[in-house]
Amino acid sequence: MVRAESPRVASDPDVDQLIAQMTLAEKLGHLNQMGGGISATDNPGAKAARMSELAEQIRAGAIGTFIGAHGAEHTNALQRIAVEESRLKIPVAFANDVIHGYRTIFPIPLAEAATWSPEWIEKACHVAAIEARAAGTHWTYAPMIDVCRDPRWGRIAETAGEDAFLGAEIAAARVRGFQGDDPSKADRMIACAKHYVAYGGAEGGRDYNTVDISLSTLHDVHLPTFKAAVDAGVGSMMSAFNEIGGVPASGNEYTLRTVLRERWGFDGVVISDWASVRELVPHGFAVDEAEAAAIGIRCGVDIDMASGIYQKFLAAAVERGELPMRLIDESVRRTLILRKKLGLFANPYTDVSRETALQGAAEHRALARDVARRSMVLLKNESGVLPLARKAQRIALIGPLVESKRDVLGTWAGVGREEEAIDVLQGLKSVAGADVTIDRALGCEVLAALPNGIDEAKRVAQNADVVLLALGEMEMMSGEGHSRASVELPQPQLDLANAIFDLKKPTAVILLTGRPLSIPTLAERAGAIVLAWHPGSEAGHAIADVLFGDFNPGGKLPATFPRSTGQVPLYYNHKNTGRPPSEGNRFTSKYIDIPWTPLYPFGFGLSYTSFSISDATVSPLEARADGVIRVSVKVTNTGKRDGDEVVQVYYQDPAATMTRPVRQLCAFRRVSVAAGRSETVSFEIPVTRFGFHDNSGQFRVEPGEIRLGVGGDSATELGLRVQLVKS
Ligand code: GLC
Repeated sequence: MVRAESPRVASDPDVDQLIAQMTLAEKLGHLNQMGGGISATDNPGAKAARMSELAEQIRAGAIGTFIGAHGAEHTNALQRIAVEESRLKIPVAFANDVIHGYRTIFPIPLAEAATWSPEWIEKACHVAAIEARAAGTHWTYAPMIDVCRDPRWGRIAETAGEDAFLGAEIAAARVRGFQGDDPSKADRMIACAKHYVAYGGAEGGRDYNTVDISLSTLHDVHLPTFKAAVDAGVGSMMSAFNEIGGVPASGNEYTLRTVLRERWGFDGVVISDWASVRELVPHGFAVDEAEAAAIGIRCGVDIDMASGIYQKFLAAAVERGELPMRLIDESVRRTLILRKKLGLFANPYTDVSRETALQGAAEHRALARDVARRSMVLLKNESGVLPLARKAQRIALIGPLVESKRDVLGTWAGVGREEEAIDVLQGLKSVAGADVTIDRALGCEVLAALPNGIDEAKRVAQNADVVLLALGEMEMMSGEGHSRASVELPQPQLDLANAIFDLKKPTAVILLTGRPLSIPTLAERAGAIVLAWHPGSEAGHAIADVLFGDFNPGGKLPATFPRSTGQVPLYYNHKNTGRPPSEGNRFTSKYIDIPWTPLYPFGFGLSYTSFSISDATVSPLEARADGVIRVSVKVTNTGKRDGDEVVQVYYQDPAATMTRPVRQLCAFRRVSVAAGRSETVSFEIPVTRFGFHDNSGQFRVEPGEIRLGVGGDSATELGLRVQLVKS
């Protein structure tokens, strides 16, 4: 039985007075979201026809919010109809997917997570809000905060990776960046935490697929990022496509009512992911669309995106007495309060004078370049291939991605324009200087060989002092509906790389990708590997800054790199099992054909300098559940170059009333340390961070030993001990 009303329902006297005047049809119109865009390719007649269709729907109060409308002028034209010609003059709101930038495109979110710098991610989200709001977008369908342990899933590109704690810190930073203290400001938007919940747990990494997890895993892996977003004041949530153990997320009373509304007190808007409420029918959870609509509204999915089934079926359900009007009013109230929070009742229009000057502004591009450099992860650097010397030399730039502008923007690239993206070749030319000659050759396509491609590439490489190989994925190989059964590098690229490696030239790989890849050949044969992800509008500049050492890379992996797809799912905070893998013992949990360990572990990343982390201490040695422990370490830059280290604190609960991961991240900080200097880094860690949920969804902090370790990646030793004692 679904509770008729959540205990905390948003309230506002002005809004309540408005609701009292609304007809049922108008109320349902405000629970309906449809497309509001006009295709740029349409001829004037088609555009005029589309505009009058939208105008008619707005006048009738049949739509309350739009997706896909862009531009201050176009959104103001629609808004004018709403506030001047509709019966109750209620302003409409405009939403879009502003995921990692609007016109200035930042690195994909997985890359931004590799910065391990929430404060930088917050700045990037603020710039996205500045540009998007100036172009009439009030509401972004971001942050995407699903936790994902399976790189076959194309949408891992949009996540903060495999860890709930890193993901939660970043989720809160993104909400702050988009919303600020007041989302009615001209440089802010309402954010939307998505996809609620556990979408990243899809079996087989196949998009929209079944998620079948324990309640403990739901609470400890998939819910923490959403709780962090709610605690940061996120204004809305998006309910996911997937089912969770037999109950679809968009019809799930436990997650949508019990957890979100009652336990967490969230009283913002929940919107369906596209037609995810209507999809309760193919899920086999509703007999028809009318039942799907009733389930959705009862669970507190306030707005139905794109399917129209609320508008089509809920009036009859109310008139038949099957659906209390209170449920409808509760959702209408939330959608009107969202628009009030945006200031749209007082100031419905966007100032058109700001739009042009702000799109792609120089300071926005500069920040995008900074974030892109910080996101890059140095996976390998032997025999000093990198950084490239500042001297006269001939560089061979080879690979299918050397001049790709579209691919470096990555998936969900807002209204970013590929012609405004700096590709790898452009970036190198602008940073390398006049005495460097750069010869380029494709060598192959991303997914196919090129006739004579390898011969041409070898010829270019033969004449060079150093070779740069730009390899990886196209933009359309990750993102929604782009899952891959194999995360290996495509064979044509491997053939090209091996042919180049055979020349025994100093060779560095620039890896452009939307996901972790299995790259054992590159790991073995390349002199250096810079993981650049899909770095956004400033890709080429940022890559060149790192290659030439103008920026010392300090990024760390937010997701594990496997040796083979066959290992997936492979993640650092796995369980120990009763037979943990061990050399020489066949009857333990491992493979006979490859090592059980990852190629590169979570948290891993090198630098052009080197660091030592020592003198780790923890106090007090005994603590209660309501206590705080303090961990301190000394970080020394033992090299000759200033650089960043990400200090990571991991813990393990070696014996509890449920099996616990072999380790979990519980604190981190990216610190800059000058060459030869040392810094002391300290963390205050609440003991509740060592708690967990059992399979009844109850949270516990248990007495007993906690092991801790501090290092530069997740493979660090856990040499510290703290005893948790009963309160
Ligand atoms: C898509 C995505 C979601 C997006 C929505 C609107 O299907 O799943 O992330 O916000 O539809 O574009």
